[in-house]
Amino acid sequence: MKMDNTWLIEKAYLRGEFIDAEKKFDVLNPATNDSIGKVPDIPLAQVEQAIVYADKTWNSWKTTPIGERSKLLQKLYQLTLEHREQLAHVMTLESGKPLQESLVEVDYAASFILWFAEEGKRAYGDTIPAVSSENKLFTIKQSVGVVAAITPWNFPLAMLTRKVAPALAAGCSVILKPASQTPFTALAFAKLAQHAGIPGGVFQVITSTNSQGVGKLLATSELIRKISFTGSTAVGRTLMEQAASTIKRTSMELGGNAPFIVFDDADISAAVSGAVAAKFRNAGQTCVSVNRFYVHDDVYEQFAEALTKEVSQLKVGNGMDDGVKVGPLINEKAVEKVKKHVEDAVGRGAKIQTGGSHLEGNFFSPTVLIDVHPDSLIATEETFGPVCALFRFATEAEAIDAANDTPFGLAAYFYSENVRRCHRVSEQLESGMVGINTGVISDASAPFGGVKQSGVGREGSHHGLDEYLEVKYISYGK
Ligand code: SIN
Repeated sequence: MKMDNTWLIEKAYLRGEFIDAEKKFDVLNPATNDSIGKVPDIPLAQVEQAIVYADKTWNSWKTTPIGERSKLLQKLYQLTLEHREQLAHVMTLESGKPLQESLVEVDYAASFILWFAEEGKRAYGDTIPAVSSENKLFTIKQSVGVVAAITPWNFPLAMLTRKVAPALAAGCSVILKPASQTPFTALAFAKLAQHAGIPGGVFQVITSTNSQGVGKLLATSELIRKISFTGSTAVGRTLMEQAASTIKRTSMELGGNAPFIVFDDADISAAVSGAVAAKFRNAGQTCVSVNRFYVHDDVYEQFAEALTKEVSQLKVGNGMDDGVKVGPLINEKAVEKVKKHVEDAVGRGAKIQTGGSHLEGNFFSPTVLIDVHPDSLIATEETFGPVCALFRFATEAEAIDAANDTPFGLAAYFYSENVRRCHRVSEQLESGMVGINTGVISDASAPFGGVKQSGVGREGSHHGLDEYLEVKYISYGK
């Protein structure tokens, strides 16, 4: 694919226009640590103006018939697919993920736009038979108001559309703050939104390195009625505390610590394929990435050997190069964390079957560790890197207890050919999502979200629209 720099837009998108600023910051390519361009570091005063403008535009957007809003979203969907290659290119440059994964992400991101263009038409209310009066009771659903969306660097486009598409379909206006590592994908998308005819001010993009300052301003503003965040549990907790000052609605898609259980009745070769899919997408930098593999004693060696064989064949390199399956981690800090987790596990007796080393720059070799001690850091913290940590278990109860022994509860996976066990275990796992005999669970039509400290709210599916709607009850006297 040829480099097309016209899609690296070095301007923020405010009030329907691409604007410059005096102060700018560099965006780095994680594969080389070279700058790929600069974007404006928008000052807080301008963020305040954007909020006021978003509030103004919300008044006309919320009364625009859903048929029209839906048509604009469908146009945006078409434009997103038409610019699939350009968007993927930008995404690989700034996030490092392999180009093939970026292309798949564009399709995934587009699927949220199409889904919510349709789902927006089904924001039904209820008619309610009154039990204690002759009044006519009914409910309607109305847009929440101005929404602040804060999106992460690991899925620069899909996490954006998963928030922005339902918000726009519901009739909300949105101020987006993309991660400072990956603003270019959001700005390229803003150009498409502008072309699609989404009114200026209904969707704005603030680029800034002052994540804490902007986050606080968005979370505490009286004019913003909802904040939707994807990122770490620590930042989510702070935003929730700040949002409490104005009793703002929140959707939080936070950290995970996903278990992957391989029972003795599993199809081992299917389990290995599922494990690779669930672990190595985006080099393991995914909230639903497996962090802990629990493998039954009777199939432990067989699974470990087959997994090691697959993992040792994964090609590491610049995401722009052919055949690369594992790109760089996002930055040096991410590499340091992975290194620390591997060293800690090895220090407690784990054995490295393959990988285990920091290559050059932000690259870490795909790794399999066996005989990992349950007290290792890797068992308790999200590693966010290409490391498989294998633990043993003997009974189903032991596996479930170990899987649930975490404050997080986003995704969980298990492999078994026993249908009764499949029902039983899926009900007992404390997580918002369960993959049975699959390592791929993400889908625009399904509710994505976690329990415990992995977050509140659901994205995607019809539940994802409700996050941006208020239910109003109306009682109509005789
Ligand atoms: C995430 O890592 O937050 C999202 C992953 C997905 O949607 O599959």
